[in-house]
Amino acid sequence: MPPPADQPSDLVVRRAEPPDLPAITDIYNHAVLTSTATFDTEPRSLEQQRRWLDEHGEPYAVLVAVLDGEVVGWASLSPWRAKPAYRYTAEDSLYIHREHQGKAIGVILLSELLNVAEASGFHTVIAGIVPENEPSLRLHRRLGFREVGHEREVGYKFDRWLDVVLMQKLLGDAARPS
Ligand SMILES: CC(C)(COP(=O)(O)OP(=O)(O)OC[C@H]1O[C@@H](n2cnc3c(N)ncnc32)[C@H](O)[C@@H]1OP(=O)(O)O)[C@@H](O)C(=O)NCCC(=O)NCCS
Repeated sequence: MPPPADQPSDLVVRRAEPPDLPAITDIYNHAVLTSTATFDTEPRSLEQQRRWLDEHGEPYAVLVAVLDGEVVGWASLSPWRAKPAYRYTAEDSLYIHREHQGKAIGVILLSELLNVAEASGFHTVIAGIVPENEPSLRLHRRLGFREVGHEREVGYKFDRWLDVVLMQKLLGDAARPS
C-alpha cells in the first residue's frame, strides 16, 4: 500500500527502549483516564510499565513513533491468550498522543507492527475495539482487519457497559508455523 499522502515525512518507527517509558506511559494514562479505548481504569506507574516492557521481548514487541525526537505514539504486540496452542496469535494495541491523532501516524505504526508480527512468525493478529471507537475501527479495516466477533457488555467503565468488537487479520505465508 502506498504511504498516505498526509503522513509526516520525518516520522521514525523503532523498537521501544526503557528511556521511552515516561512518554509511552503519559500517552497511555491519558487514554486510561479519559476514554474507553482501554479497559484499564487506573493509571499505570513507571514501575509497572518497566515490567510490561520486559514482558514484551521477542517474539512480542513494543514500537514507538518518534517525530522530531518526541515519542508521539506507541504500538504493542502481546499474547492473545496464554495456552500454548494460541502461540501464533497476537493482540495489537496502539495509542497516539492526542495532539497527533488523525495524521496517519496510526496507519504507519500499525503497518510496521504487522510487518514485525509477520517477521516474528505470527499467523494472525487480533484487536478488541469498543464499537464507539470509530478511528480505531477504520484504521484496522484499512489495514485489512475484518470483524470476526462482537462481545456484548463485557466491560464496565465510566458507569456503563461496553461491548467489544473483535477485528482479525490473517498474515501471509511467511507467518505459518514451521
Ligand atoms: C485510534 C488511533 C490509534 C488511530 O490513529 P490515528 O493516527 O489517529 O489515525 P490515522 O490518522 O492513522 O487514521 C486512521 C483511520 O482513522 C480515521 N480517523 C482518524 N481520526 C478520526 C476521527 N477523529 N474520527 C473518525 N475517524 C478518524 C482516519 O480517517 C483513518 O480512516 P480511513 O483510512 O478510513 O480514512 C488514535 O486515534 C488513538 O490513539 N486514539 C486513542 C487511543 C485508541 O483508541 N487506541 C486504539 C484502541 S483499540
